[in-house]
Amino acid sequence: MLVPYFDLKKQYLSLRDEIREALDRVCGNASFILGEEVSEFEKEFAAHCEVKYCVALNSGTSALHLALLALGVKPGDEVITTPNTFIATAEAICYAGAKPVFVDIDPQTANLDPALIEPAITERTKAILPVHLYGRPADMDRVLQIARKHSLAVLEDACQAHGARYRGRRVGSIGHAAAFSFYPSKNLSAYGEGGALTTNDAGIAELARALRNHGQSGPYTHARIGYNYRMEGFQGAVLRVKLKRLEQWNARRKEIAALYRSILQGAKAEIPPDDPRDERVYHLFVVYVDRRDQVRAELETRGVHTAVHYPRPVHLQPAFAPLGFGPGSFPHAERACERALSMPFFPEMADEQVRYAAERLAEVVGIT
Ligand SMILES: Cc1ncc(COP(=O)(O)O)c(C=O)c1O
Repeated sequence: MLVPYFDLKKQYLSLRDEIREALDRVCGNASFILGEEVSEFEKEFAAHCEVKYCVALNSGTSALHLALLALGVKPGDEVITTPNTFIATAEAICYAGAKPVFVDIDPQTANLDPALIEPAITERTKAILPVHLYGRPADMDRVLQIARKHSLAVLEDACQAHGARYRGRRVGSIGHAAAFSFYPSKNLSAYGEGGALTTNDAGIAELARALRNHGQSGPYTHARIGYNYRMEGFQGAVLRVKLKRLEQWNARRKEIAALYRSILQGAKAEIPPDDPRDERVYHLFVVYVDRRDQVRAELETRGVHTAVHYPRPVHLQPAFAPLGFGPGSFPHAERACERALSMPFFPEMADEQVRYAAERLAEVVGIT
């Protein structure tokens, strides 16, 4: 059997007619940039996230950037975040002219460890940027409590967590603002690049709306220097079709994760338990194994394709060498990056494929 790591083609086949109609509507209206499909998607996604405002953008990275600007992050400021994330989280901080200040993760959650935030706060700290990594909500109550105490803004990186709930609340509705990505591999994905900023704050939404469109305050009047971060009409149309299925796809992701867990019981692979108070949406199914690269190679020869998220923590990326971190700076994040293995995972996977991949992993790593 061959088990691909990821497959979007099956999903397209199940949506083909609806997607084609939606794209045809965009062509018929010639509303290729923003337009009605995008504004309707904004309303629908805001309702889904249980927030007042959604601003549709051209990527999750743009959403992080505009959210930081709207939260008042300026050159010279510091933003506390995790090194165990995609580089875009830290890049956006740099786009705003601020400095990313990393704190290590809690190995049980792979998310930033709230106990390490306070010691990292200085007079320059302006915001905290937790990431809901792999679809697992970060510990927002503790983050918010620290933020309140020190008057800091909180920006959620929800790029991997569409539909997740933290203590009953949707991610994306908990901090002052949140960023979502609709990159094609995400739980809710566009047919190209896409992203969104969500918030309950009218001022943040208004500023983000102006900044995504060259700082425009009226026709050909530009109150400030902005960006071209607008969402395309096609992406809004596709996202509207897919948003209707998000809950169903996330439910299937949970089923697949449960099947993996049950077959891998006793295997020499660590799978941290979920927090029963939260609803995790499993963007990825990540296990931690020793000799990860060898395990990957052995799975590959058995027809099981895997991936790694992420092979190197952000503080050890060459781009961040100027910050001066060496190996050992954030040991939990570094160990996670050495051992993390993303198993094949997408809602259209058949149970037999999950079983086959899990059994091959158990065979390769052995049983305790
Ligand atoms: C955690 C995280 N943050 C930010 C991003 C950036 O999103 P995008 O690729 O849409 O710019 C991604 C996705 O790629 C991500 O996974």
